[in-house]
Amino acid sequence: MKFFIDTANIEQIKEAKALGVLAGVTTNPSLVAKEGVDFHDRLREITNVVTDKSVSAEVIALDAEGMIKEGKELAAIAPNITVKVPMTTEGLKAVHALSELGITTNVTLVFSGVQALLAARAGATYVSPFLGRLDDIGQNGLELINEIAEIFAIHEIPTEIIAASVRHPVHVTEAARRGAHIATIPFNVIQQLTKHPLTDQGIEKFLADWNNR
Ligand code: E4P
Repeated sequence: MKFFIDTANIEQIKEAKALGVLAGVTTNPSLVAKEGVDFHDRLREITNVVTDKSVSAEVIALDAEGMIKEGKELAAIAPNITVKVPMTTEGLKAVHALSELGITTNVTLVFSGVQALLAARAGATYVSPFLGRLDDIGQNGLELINEIAEIFAIHEIPTEIIAASVRHPVHVTEAARRGAHIATIPFNVIQQLTKHPLTDQGIEKFLADWNNR
């Protein structure tokens, strides 16, 4: 499983890139709004930092024609932009049209196996099932990863599964075990992933022993 970062914050992207594990970036309108910057300017900045890996940028339009227009504009910003499109009937039409143009797409707000299958058949490069938001309504978000991974394996579908709406390290470990190709992870969770109390205790003990030699 690969690691994407789920943020529109440049410093966080640079920090994650420095770890050497970053395979892509996802943004959404909420994440961009939080930054208080121009969307296209920020995408240019992000694609200058992450030059050769997928950077997902979401359309705002709700109709297929509008999504296709916005998608083409976003894709023109940099060759590694992936157009993020919501899982609706209009979204499927847009994904189909954009993929015919050779533009990569990420179908977002996926909450069922059959939505993922439809998105894949429409030509999606990625599908993003939202784990945390399913957990929030009392369902097990991780079960959806199993469901999609099983469907894609049976039908030999090349669309990659991005575990999204990741809230804590267990989501990441379990998404990897259950067959997600990618997890897109907020910066604070990436930091949590690197930590273990025994690692800290071990370092402390080594240093104490070294200083008492
Ligand atoms: C993924 O692409 C989405 O941007 C993101 O994971 C949504 O996460 P949230 O449910 O924490 O807002």
